[in-house]
Amino acid sequence: MLPWTLLGVLSLLITVPDALAVKSHDFKTCSQAGFCRRGRAISARAAEAKSAWKSPYSLDVPSIAITPNKAVFKAGVKSSLYPDIKFGLELRVHEDGVVRVRMDEVDGLRKRYDEAASWALISEPQISQEITWTAGKKDIRAKYGNNEVVVAFQPLKISLLRGGKEQVVLNGRGLLHMEHFRTKQVAETKTEEAAPEAEEGAEQVVMDVAKEVNPRAWFEGDTEDDWWDERFSTWTDTKPKGPESLSIDISFPNHGTIYGIPQHATRLALPTTAGDSPTFTEPYRLYNADVFEYLASSPMSLYGSIPVLHAHSADSTVGIFHAVGSETWIDVSHASDKSTQTHWISESGILDVFLMPGPTPADIFAQYARLTGTPVLPPHWSLGYHQCRWNYISSEDVRTVQKRFDEEDMPVDVFWLDIEYANEHKYFMWDEKNFPDPVEMTNDVAANGRKMVVIVDPHLKRTDSYPAFKEASDRKVLVKPASGDGEYEGWCWSGSSSWIDFFNPNSWDWWKSLFKTTALKSGWSWTLSTTDIHIWNDMNEPSVFNGPEISMPRDNVHHGGWEHRDIHNINGMLFSNLTSQAVRERTDPPTRPFVLTRSFFAGSQRFGAMWTGDNLGTWEHMAVGIQMVLANGIAGLSFAGSDVGGFFGNPEPEMLVRWYQVGIFNPFLRAHAHIDTKRREPFLQEEPYKGMIKDILRLRYTMLPVWYTAFRETSVTGVPVLRPHYVVFPKDPKGFAVDDQYFIGSSGILVKPITTKGATETTVYLAEDEVYYDYFSHHVYRGASKGKDITVHAELHEIPVFVRGGSIVPTRERPRRSSPLMKLDPFTLRVALGKTGSARGELYLDDGVSYSHEKGQFVWREFSAETAKKVVRLTTKNLGLERVGEAVDGVALASYNPGNEFAKTIGEVRVEKVVVLGLASKPTSVKVEGGNELVWEYTPGVAAGGKGEGVASVLTIKDPKVLIVKDWAIVIQL
Ligand SMILES: *[C@@H]1O[C@H](CO)[C@@H](O)[C@H](O)[C@H]1NC(C)=O
Repeated sequence: MLPWTLLGVLSLLITVPDALAVKSHDFKTCSQAGFCRRGRAISARAAEAKSAWKSPYSLDVPSIAITPNKAVFKAGVKSSLYPDIKFGLELRVHEDGVVRVRMDEVDGLRKRYDEAASWALISEPQISQEITWTAGKKDIRAKYGNNEVVVAFQPLKISLLRGGKEQVVLNGRGLLHMEHFRTKQVAETKTEEAAPEAEEGAEQVVMDVAKEVNPRAWFEGDTEDDWWDERFSTWTDTKPKGPESLSIDISFPNHGTIYGIPQHATRLALPTTAGDSPTFTEPYRLYNADVFEYLASSPMSLYGSIPVLHAHSADSTVGIFHAVGSETWIDVSHASDKSTQTHWISESGILDVFLMPGPTPADIFAQYARLTGTPVLPPHWSLGYHQCRWNYISSEDVRTVQKRFDEEDMPVDVFWLDIEYANEHKYFMWDEKNFPDPVEMTNDVAANGRKMVVIVDPHLKRTDSYPAFKEASDRKVLVKPASGDGEYEGWCWSGSSSWIDFFNPNSWDWWKSLFKTTALKSGWSWTLSTTDIHIWNDMNEPSVFNGPEISMPRDNVHHGGWEHRDIHNINGMLFSNLTSQAVRERTDPPTRPFVLTRSFFAGSQRFGAMWTGDNLGTWEHMAVGIQMVLANGIAGLSFAGSDVGGFFGNPEPEMLVRWYQVGIFNPFLRAHAHIDTKRREPFLQEEPYKGMIKDILRLRYTMLPVWYTAFRETSVTGVPVLRPHYVVFPKDPKGFAVDDQYFIGSSGILVKPITTKGATETTVYLAEDEVYYDYFSHHVYRGASKGKDITVHAELHEIPVFVRGGSIVPTRERPRRSSPLMKLDPFTLRVALGKTGSARGELYLDDGVSYSHEKGQFVWREFSAETAKKVVRLTTKNLGLERVGEAVDGVALASYNPGNEFAKTIGEVRVEKVVVLGLASKPTSVKVEGGNELVWEYTPGVAAGGKGEGVASVLTIKDPKVLIVKDWAIVIQL
């Protein structure tokens, strides 16, 4: 047997017995987390007390201070439970109407962690200059446009209204509770005053009595429930700061569906966790965790956390972003089918909630993008196919795999190396026995235009012979244990390890320097690298095999004295941030980095791609992967995918084919497999599966122009690459729960991947009265204004892909070995005429690797078709000129030169084929305006089924010799 495989298996058995045994019991339920138990108990007591429940928090009216520009107001907040404790509330209205609500304890014994937003936000948002706060007897309010923010004094309640209707309400249910800092002694005397426990089902009278006898116990319980330390399994979490959790209810009285708060393996429209017969009994948990063999349907935490949600109705959409980096649990319930209640319980940190007023999903994407940035425009090649496995065991193995792809004419852009490339899992250092020639190996891969990605994890093997560890230790940039002294030590792939504290600014430049391929460091073999190698950041939750919940103890200490609990969910983002900066800055001028991360937070979209972690090779995981990728897009992180084939298990050929079909319609397309699985590269499959997978991969490559154009759009607008129905048809309630079909960008491509065994057909929901063309057969379907299900073929070789009538889709149809080889290939335009005979589409191109597009080096075309008086005119114009001045995030383009250097490089690239679907009759002539008759073919449509259904008429125009970068018109005379 191969020594590497053995070693891998051995290292698994020896070093990670815990990880192998992981089951749900390795992770806390709400009732096993002291602060979550306390938070849920508040809502339970509130539910019991019904209308007698009153929030103890109120605004300290005399303290209201409005800034001279009137846009910000600050005031003290008091809790009747603790009259001596002071809280401060601050509300700001941003220029785009987003309302920021911050509340913190003031002059407390300690300081709460208030920096979560500073890591997530791209910059300090612009405050509106047009707001006027007006204080009345009961509230202070600000009206702007159709919106109004109202802060009621007693009890404290904050509402965002539109058109006089409440859209978002904070503390409307009175669950706000910011546990203040206290000393242990004070707390001990308090237990003595505890009131006798109220009996279950107690009457209102009893509640009132309890409230009078001991209001604190009535509100927050009568025991010091895990205030000062907490046990879980064999671990004790010391809590030197004591209780400091934060509970806040956020309600959406006019919105019945919510989406977001990834990452959870569940439906896109989030099922309930509270109220009457909830779907899940646990709240959604946000605590980045390495969950071994995670469940395909669960509110459990996974690898990343983005505390962002959309609340949606046919009337409008509103959004919430809670900038909190500590563990957070979120209960979801519906008071009616038209309203949603959420309850957020966080372990530490301040209240820092952004209310995004919408009113459309697109508005919220823009509002959120202004806060945390848009997704980065990735290198073009990273949209190709990524071939990964734990592990390709040697440079010869890599070469052989590449050779097999080439022999079979299967496209692939990137070969990946998992942890076994590194000598004893010391990242940056090659295992010289099996990878004696990393530069030559990478160059062999790069010779075909391809790249490599290798893994760099955040755990550093604790040995002085490992320069990365030694230097980090010398610089004192490692995470500290609870004592605050020395270096925290835990167990991971590399055995005894320590973790870099990326919250420490001293780690930043040093980390970046490690990636310089030209830096000569004695004893380092990472210098045996090239700029064709990009990076995979795994295990950055962080995963610690012998730590509580497979992570770091919460009382570990980071830079600034903050405990790990305060920043846990942000931790993974900093790692990919610094890594992407490092890869970007390897060259001068910089080139676009590709960094894949497993852990993420709000803002991670700026640094690269994520994947859904260690999924299982099951149909359920295949299906939920789509929903998870959609949910990530909702929360801003569009560049997402789930491992094709499933990480664990040996998928049968049918499943593998279906998984490739799912994969090519994910923004990030990678096949990956566990070390214990059988090799399953596409070329190893038997026919007919091998041929099917080859066709599927080729389909992805033909559609790269669609993907890249969609990525460009999201990099400017924040509207996700994958668009679920509610994003495209916000007013159609029938589409709100649809999460197994979606559109790609604005292209008009609608796809419904098959995720069930033995499928031969499926139903597809068409939300509008428009024609939809089968992408392959040109079968045409007609939707209905109230929505309609159609039944379509879906045999194993078939993927339900449709072009929405009214779209023009640019593709490149010549098979190539890798995407860079397609650079000068001609285009095909699919013109899918809508029911009114018109269509439009876009194509964005740039060099795909540099940042020259930010300086106007790109080509951005619009294609449109109009039918009038028996003439169909297909024209194209330059959209680049309209891009001038446009920017959600970053620098707006100051000018645009259509003859820019990049445009020149593709100056000769032409359209080689135009396919027009849905012409009313056979043309009498087809010409480029001002030119001769073109070569064309026409197949008449065949009516069948209902009105307008059947097979569409197809006009194929061969080689019209028109150029992509030029304006032209093709005139079709009917
Ligand atoms: C992270 O990325 C942003 C750019 O998006 C940068 O401004 C910031 O300084 C970075 N560093 C850290 C440590 O987050």
